[in-house]
Amino acid sequence: MPVLRDLFINLSENQLLNSAAQKYGLRLGAQSVVAGTNIPEVIKSIKELNAQGISCTVDNLGEFVFERSEATKAKERILEVIQAIHENDVDAHISLKPSQLGLDIDYDFCYGNLEEIVDLASTYKMHINLDMEDYDRLQPSFDLLDQLSQKYDNVGTVIQAYFFNAAENIEKYKNFRLRIVKGAYKEPAEVAYQNKHDIDLNFIDLIEYHLLNGKFTSIATHDHNVINHVKQFVKDHDISNDKFEFQMLYGFRKEMQLELAKEGYNFCTYVPFGDDWYGYFMRRLAERPQNLNLVTKQVFTK
Ligand code: FDA
Repeated sequence: MPVLRDLFINLSENQLLNSAAQKYGLRLGAQSVVAGTNIPEVIKSIKELNAQGISCTVDNLGEFVFERSEATKAKERILEVIQAIHENDVDAHISLKPSQLGLDIDYDFCYGNLEEIVDLASTYKMHINLDMEDYDRLQPSFDLLDQLSQKYDNVGTVIQAYFFNAAENIEKYKNFRLRIVKGAYKEPAEVAYQNKHDIDLNFIDLIEYHLLNGKFTSIATHDHNVINHVKQFVKDHDISNDKFEFQMLYGFRKEMQLELAKEGYNFCTYVPFGDDWYGYFMRRLAERPQNLNLVTKQVFTK
Protein backbone atom coordinates (compact mmCIF):
# COMPACT_ATOMS: atom_id res chain seq x y z
CA MET A 1 0.00 0.00 0.00
CA PRO A 2 2.82 2.56 0.63
CA VAL A 3 3.65 2.32 -3.11
CA LEU A 4 0.09 3.31 -4.05
CA ARG A 5 0.14 6.08 -1.46
CA ASP A 6 3.32 7.55 -2.94
CA LEU A 7 1.94 7.21 -6.47
CA PHE A 8 -1.24 9.17 -5.64
CA ILE A 9 0.66 11.81 -3.65
CA ASN A 10 3.01 12.31 -6.62
CA LEU A 11 -0.01 12.53 -8.93
CA SER A 12 -1.62 15.11 -6.59
CA GLU A 13 1.36 17.40 -7.19
CA ASN A 14 1.35 17.09 -10.99
CA GLN A 15 0.52 20.56 -12.39
CA LEU A 16 -0.11 19.34 -15.93
CA LEU A 17 -2.68 16.74 -14.91
CA ASN A 18 -4.22 19.31 -12.57
CA SER A 19 -4.88 21.75 -15.44
CA ALA A 20 -6.24 18.95 -17.63
CA ALA A 21 -8.60 17.86 -14.84
CA GLN A 22 -10.01 21.38 -14.49
CA LYS A 23 -10.92 21.37 -18.17
CA TYR A 24 -12.88 18.15 -17.92
CA GLY A 25 -15.04 19.02 -14.88
CA LEU A 26 -15.85 16.66 -12.04
CA ARG A 27 -14.78 13.30 -13.41
CA LEU A 28 -13.08 10.13 -12.17
CA GLY A 29 -15.52 9.77 -9.28
CA ALA A 30 -14.64 13.18 -7.84
CA GLN A 31 -18.32 14.19 -7.82
CA SER A 32 -18.91 11.82 -4.88
CA VAL A 33 -16.47 13.74 -2.70
CA VAL A 34 -16.72 17.28 -4.13
CA ALA A 35 -19.96 19.22 -3.50
CA GLY A 36 -20.28 20.87 -6.90
CA THR A 37 -18.35 23.43 -8.88
CA ASN A 38 -20.16 26.67 -8.03
CA ILE A 39 -21.59 28.60 -5.07
CA PRO A 40 -25.32 27.76 -5.58
CA GLU A 41 -24.40 24.05 -5.72
CA VAL A 42 -22.36 24.21 -2.52
CA ILE A 43 -25.07 26.18 -0.69
CA LYS A 44 -27.57 23.50 -1.69
CA SER A 45 -25.28 20.78 -0.25
CA ILE A 46 -24.82 22.75 2.97
CA LYS A 47 -28.58 23.14 3.37
CA GLU A 48 -29.05 19.40 2.96
CA LEU A 49 -26.41 18.66 5.61
CA ASN A 50 -27.74 21.35 7.98
CA ALA A 51 -31.19 19.77 7.69
CA GLN A 52 -29.63 16.60 9.12
CA GLY A 53 -28.10 18.44 12.07
CA ILE A 54 -24.63 18.73 10.52
CA SER A 55 -22.66 21.97 10.26
CA CYS A 56 -20.14 22.56 7.47
CA THR A 57 -16.72 23.96 6.80
CA VAL A 58 -16.43 25.04 3.17
CA ASP A 59 -13.27 24.75 1.10
CA ASN A 60 -13.05 26.56 -2.24
CA LEU A 61 -10.69 24.01 -3.81
CA GLY A 62 -7.29 25.21 -4.94
CA GLU A 63 -3.68 25.09 -3.79
CA PHE A 64 -0.09 25.71 -4.91
CA VAL A 65 -1.00 28.89 -6.80
CA PHE A 66 1.93 30.70 -8.42
CA GLU A 67 0.16 33.60 -10.21
CA ARG A 68 -1.01 36.71 -8.35
CA SER A 69 -4.10 36.95 -10.55
CA GLU A 70 -5.09 33.41 -9.61
CA ALA A 71 -4.63 34.07 -5.89
CA THR A 72 -6.70 37.26 -6.18
CA LYS A 73 -9.42 35.31 -7.98
CA ALA A 74 -9.44 32.73 -5.17
CA LYS A 75 -9.72 35.49 -2.56
CA GLU A 76 -12.69 37.05 -4.41
CA ARG A 77 -14.37 33.65 -4.61
CA ILE A 78 -13.94 33.02 -0.89
CA LEU A 79 -15.36 36.48 -0.09
CA GLU A 80 -18.40 35.56 -2.23
CA VAL A 81 -18.77 32.26 -0.35
CA ILE A 82 -18.72 34.08 3.00
CA GLN A 83 -21.38 36.47 1.70
CA ALA A 84 -23.49 33.56 0.40
CA ILE A 85 -23.24 31.70 3.73
CA HIS A 86 -24.39 34.84 5.52
CA GLU A 87 -27.22 35.66 3.09
CA ASN A 88 -28.55 32.09 3.08
CA ASP A 89 -28.24 31.92 6.87
CA VAL A 90 -26.69 28.44 6.76
CA ASP A 91 -24.55 26.86 9.47
CA ALA A 92 -21.10 26.94 7.90
CA HIS A 93 -17.64 28.45 8.17
CA ILE A 94 -14.56 28.54 5.94
CA SER A 95 -11.47 26.38 5.53
CA LEU A 96 -8.73 27.67 3.25
CA LYS A 97 -5.21 26.88 2.16
CA PRO A 98 -2.58 29.64 2.43
CA SER A 99 -0.90 28.45 -0.79
CA GLN A 100 -4.14 29.18 -2.67
CA LEU A 101 -3.94 32.79 -1.51
CA GLY A 102 -0.36 33.38 -2.61
CA LEU A 103 1.89 32.04 0.17
CA ASP A 104 4.32 30.71 -2.45
CA ILE A 105 4.36 34.08 -4.26
CA ASP A 106 4.90 36.56 -1.45
CA TYR A 107 4.15 36.40 2.28
CA ASP A 108 2.78 39.96 2.57
CA PHE A 109 0.59 39.52 -0.51
CA CYS A 110 -0.86 36.35 1.02
CA TYR A 111 -1.35 38.06 4.38
CA GLY A 112 -3.26 40.90 2.67
CA ASN A 113 -5.59 38.42 0.95
CA LEU A 114 -6.16 36.54 4.17
CA GLU A 115 -6.78 39.69 6.16
CA GLU A 116 -9.59 40.73 3.81
CA ILE A 117 -11.20 37.32 4.21
CA VAL A 118 -10.85 37.14 8.00
CA ASP A 119 -12.06 40.73 8.29
CA LEU A 120 -15.28 40.13 6.33
CA ALA A 121 -15.89 36.86 8.21
CA SER A 122 -15.39 38.61 11.56
CA THR A 123 -18.26 41.00 10.77
CA TYR A 124 -20.50 37.90 10.54
CA LYS A 125 -18.81 36.18 13.53
CA MET A 126 -17.74 33.41 11.15
CA HIS A 127 -14.74 31.20 11.88
CA ILE A 128 -11.85 30.89 9.41
CA ASN A 129 -9.66 27.81 9.55
CA LEU A 130 -6.19 27.89 8.01
CA ASP A 131 -5.74 24.37 6.67
CA MET A 132 -2.22 23.04 7.04
CA GLU A 133 -0.30 21.88 4.00
CA ASP A 134 3.15 20.31 3.72
CA TYR A 135 6.17 20.87 5.99
CA ASP A 136 7.72 23.64 3.85
CA ARG A 137 4.58 25.74 4.40
CA LEU A 138 4.12 24.86 8.09
CA GLN A 139 6.06 27.70 9.75
CA PRO A 140 4.94 30.40 7.27
CA SER A 141 1.32 29.32 7.92
CA PHE A 142 1.81 29.61 11.69
CA ASP A 143 3.38 33.05 11.07
CA LEU A 144 0.22 34.09 9.20
CA LEU A 145 -1.90 32.86 12.11
CA ASP A 146 0.27 34.74 14.63
CA GLN A 147 -0.11 37.95 12.66
CA LEU A 148 -3.86 37.55 12.06
CA SER A 149 -4.57 36.69 15.68
CA GLN A 150 -3.12 40.03 16.81
CA LYS A 151 -6.20 41.64 15.23
CA TYR A 152 -8.86 38.92 15.01
CA ASP A 153 -10.22 36.14 17.21
CA ASN A 154 -12.17 34.25 14.53
CA VAL A 155 -9.21 32.30 13.18
CA GLY A 156 -7.71 28.92 13.97
CA THR A 157 -5.66 26.18 12.36
CA VAL A 158 -4.77 22.51 12.11
CA ILE A 159 -2.26 20.38 14.02
CA GLN A 160 -0.93 17.41 12.02
CA ALA A 161 -0.08 14.47 14.27
CA TYR A 162 2.59 13.01 11.98
CA PHE A 163 4.98 15.90 12.69
CA PHE A 164 7.52 15.48 15.49
CA ASN A 165 6.92 19.13 16.44
CA ALA A 166 3.13 18.74 16.73
CA ALA A 167 3.22 18.55 20.57
CA GLU A 168 5.30 21.72 20.72
CA ASN A 169 2.92 23.52 18.37
CA ILE A 170 -0.24 22.40 20.13
CA GLU A 171 1.16 23.80 23.36
CA LYS A 172 2.03 27.07 21.64
CA TYR A 173 -1.47 27.33 20.13
CA LYS A 174 -3.37 25.95 23.12
CA ASN A 175 -5.60 29.05 23.27
CA PHE A 176 -6.84 28.60 19.71
CA ARG A 177 -9.70 26.69 18.22
CA LEU A 178 -7.82 23.78 16.61
CA ARG A 179 -8.57 20.95 14.20
CA ILE A 180 -6.42 17.90 14.88
CA VAL A 181 -5.67 15.48 12.03
CA LYS A 182 -3.22 12.68 11.27
CA GLY A 183 -1.64 14.51 8.29
CA ALA A 184 -2.14 14.04 4.55
CA TYR A 185 1.12 14.86 2.76
CA LYS A 186 4.26 12.83 2.13
CA GLU A 187 6.85 14.10 4.59
CA PRO A 188 10.49 13.10 5.12
CA ALA A 189 11.55 10.88 8.05
CA GLU A 190 13.59 13.78 9.48
CA VAL A 191 10.42 15.70 10.37
CA ALA A 192 7.53 13.24 10.56
CA TYR A 193 6.56 9.81 11.87
CA GLN A 194 6.23 7.36 8.99
CA ASN A 195 4.58 4.54 10.84
CA LYS A 196 0.77 4.41 11.25
CA HIS A 197 1.03 3.17 14.85
CA ASP A 198 3.25 6.10 15.91
CA ILE A 199 0.99 8.61 14.12
CA ASP A 200 -2.14 7.16 15.72
CA LEU A 201 -0.60 7.31 19.23
CA ASN A 202 0.48 10.91 18.76
CA PHE A 203 -2.94 11.77 17.33
CA ILE A 204 -4.67 10.52 20.49
CA ASP A 205 -2.19 12.35 22.76
CA LEU A 206 -2.77 15.64 20.93
CA ILE A 207 -6.55 15.28 20.98
CA GLU A 208 -6.56 14.54 24.71
CA TYR A 209 -4.21 17.45 25.42
CA HIS A 210 -6.38 19.98 23.62
CA LEU A 211 -9.65 18.62 25.00
CA LEU A 212 -8.28 18.90 28.55
CA ASN A 213 -7.20 22.47 27.80
CA GLY A 214 -10.82 23.38 27.33
CA LYS A 215 -10.48 25.18 24.01
CA PHE A 216 -12.70 24.05 21.16
CA THR A 217 -11.33 20.92 19.47
CA SER A 218 -12.27 19.59 16.03
CA ILE A 219 -11.38 15.92 15.84
CA ALA A 220 -11.07 15.33 12.10
CA THR A 221 -10.87 11.65 11.26
CA HIS A 222 -12.73 8.74 9.66
CA ASP A 223 -11.08 6.35 12.09
CA HIS A 224 -13.80 4.70 14.22
CA ASN A 225 -11.19 3.53 16.79
CA VAL A 226 -10.16 7.11 17.46
CA ILE A 227 -13.78 8.29 17.53
CA ASN A 228 -14.74 5.59 20.04
CA HIS A 229 -11.72 6.46 22.17
CA VAL A 230 -12.72 10.14 22.20
CA LYS A 231 -16.32 9.31 23.14
CA GLN A 232 -15.07 7.41 26.22
CA PHE A 233 -12.43 10.04 27.06
CA VAL A 234 -14.91 12.95 27.12
CA LYS A 235 -17.26 10.88 29.28
CA ASP A 236 -14.48 9.99 31.75
CA HIS A 237 -13.34 13.62 31.99
CA ASP A 238 -16.75 15.30 32.01
CA ILE A 239 -15.99 17.28 28.88
CA SER A 240 -19.23 18.71 27.55
CA ASN A 241 -20.33 18.33 23.92
CA ASP A 242 -20.06 22.06 23.25
CA LYS A 243 -16.27 21.87 23.68
CA PHE A 244 -15.60 19.69 20.66
CA GLU A 245 -16.89 18.35 17.37
CA PHE A 246 -16.13 15.48 15.05
CA GLN A 247 -15.27 16.33 11.46
CA MET A 248 -15.19 14.17 8.34
CA LEU A 249 -14.81 14.90 4.65
CA TYR A 250 -17.84 15.26 2.39
CA GLY A 251 -18.89 11.93 0.88
CA PHE A 252 -16.96 9.71 3.34
CA ARG A 253 -18.60 7.40 5.89
CA LYS A 254 -21.93 9.18 5.38
CA GLU A 255 -23.83 6.83 7.69
CA MET A 256 -21.36 7.35 10.51
CA GLN A 257 -21.58 11.14 10.04
CA LEU A 258 -25.34 10.98 10.49
CA GLU A 259 -25.14 8.57 13.39
CA LEU A 260 -22.74 10.82 15.32
CA ALA A 261 -24.98 13.83 14.73
CA LYS A 262 -28.02 11.81 15.86
CA GLU A 263 -26.17 10.71 19.00
CA GLY A 264 -26.01 14.40 19.92
CA TYR A 265 -22.36 15.13 19.10
CA ASN A 266 -21.48 18.30 17.22
CA PHE A 267 -20.64 17.17 13.73
CA CYS A 268 -19.08 19.23 10.97
CA THR A 269 -18.59 18.07 7.40
CA TYR A 270 -15.68 19.45 5.37
CA VAL A 271 -17.30 20.48 2.10
CA PRO A 272 -14.94 21.07 -0.83
CA PHE A 273 -16.22 22.61 -4.05
CA GLY A 274 -14.86 24.15 -7.24
CA ASP A 275 -12.98 23.23 -10.41
CA ASP A 276 -9.61 22.66 -8.81
CA TRP A 277 -10.50 19.25 -7.37
CA TYR A 278 -7.66 17.15 -8.73
CA GLY A 279 -4.98 17.48 -5.96
CA TYR A 280 -7.62 17.08 -3.24
CA PHE A 281 -9.04 13.97 -4.86
CA MET A 282 -5.63 12.34 -5.43
CA ARG A 283 -4.71 12.83 -1.74
CA ARG A 284 -7.94 11.05 -0.77
CA LEU A 285 -6.92 8.13 -3.01
CA ALA A 286 -3.47 8.15 -1.38
CA GLU A 287 -4.98 7.91 2.11
CA ARG A 288 -7.26 5.06 1.25
CA PRO A 289 -6.75 3.23 -2.03
CA GLN A 290 -10.16 1.59 -1.41
CA ASN A 291 -11.50 5.01 -2.45
CA LEU A 292 -10.69 3.78 -5.93
CA ASN A 293 -14.08 2.07 -5.57
CA LEU A 294 -15.54 5.54 -5.99
CA VAL A 295 -13.75 5.84 -9.30
CA THR A 296 -14.72 2.44 -10.63
CA LYS A 297 -18.34 2.88 -9.53
CA GLN A 298 -18.57 6.21 -11.38
CA VAL A 299 -16.90 4.87 -14.48
CA PHE A 300 -19.01 1.72 -14.72
CA THR A 301 -22.38 3.16 -13.76
CA LYS A 302 -22.44 5.87 -16.42
P1 FDA B 1 -7.04 6.66 8.35
O1 FDA B 1 -7.00 6.99 6.88
O2 FDA B 1 -5.75 6.47 9.09
O3 FDA B 1 -7.96 5.41 8.54
C1 FDA B 1 -8.00 4.68 9.76
C2 FDA B 1 -9.03 3.58 9.67
O4 FDA B 1 -10.34 4.14 9.60
C3 FDA B 1 -8.90 2.74 8.39
O5 FDA B 1 -7.95 1.73 8.54
C4 FDA B 1 -10.33 2.21 8.24
O6 FDA B 1 -10.55 1.13 9.12
C5 FDA B 1 -11.16 3.39 8.72
N1 FDA B 1 -11.57 4.26 7.59
C6 FDA B 1 -10.95 5.35 7.15
N2 FDA B 1 -11.61 5.91 6.12
C7 FDA B 1 -12.68 5.13 5.88
C8 FDA B 1 -13.76 5.15 4.96
N3 FDA B 1 -13.86 6.12 4.04
N4 FDA B 1 -14.69 4.17 5.01
C9 FDA B 1 -14.60 3.18 5.93
N5 FDA B 1 -13.59 3.10 6.86
C10 FDA B 1 -12.65 4.06 6.82
N6 FDA B 1 -4.70 16.81 6.52
C11 FDA B 1 -3.74 17.79 6.51
O7 FDA B 1 -2.55 17.48 6.35
N7 FDA B 1 -4.11 19.10 6.64
C12 FDA B 1 -5.40 19.49 6.86
O8 FDA B 1 -5.67 20.68 6.99
C13 FDA B 1 -6.40 18.46 6.89
N8 FDA B 1 -7.72 18.76 7.07
C14 FDA B 1 -8.66 17.74 7.21
C15 FDA B 1 -9.99 18.03 7.53
C16 FDA B 1 -10.89 17.00 7.75
C17 FDA B 1 -12.32 17.32 8.10
C18 FDA B 1 -10.47 15.62 7.65
C19 FDA B 1 -11.42 14.50 7.93
C20 FDA B 1 -9.17 15.35 7.31
C21 FDA B 1 -8.26 16.39 7.08
N9 FDA B 1 -6.94 16.10 6.72
C22 FDA B 1 -6.01 17.12 6.71
C23 FDA B 1 -6.58 14.73 6.28
C24 FDA B 1 -6.00 13.91 7.44
O9 FDA B 1 -4.73 14.38 7.77
C25 FDA B 1 -5.88 12.42 7.04
O10 FDA B 1 -4.99 12.31 5.98
C26 FDA B 1 -7.19 11.76 6.66
O11 FDA B 1 -8.25 12.17 7.47
C27 FDA B 1 -7.05 10.22 6.74
O12 FDA B 1 -6.83 9.82 8.06
P2 FDA B 1 -8.01 9.30 9.04
O13 FDA B 1 -7.74 9.88 10.39
O14 FDA B 1 -9.32 9.68 8.46
O15 FDA B 1 -7.90 7.76 9.15
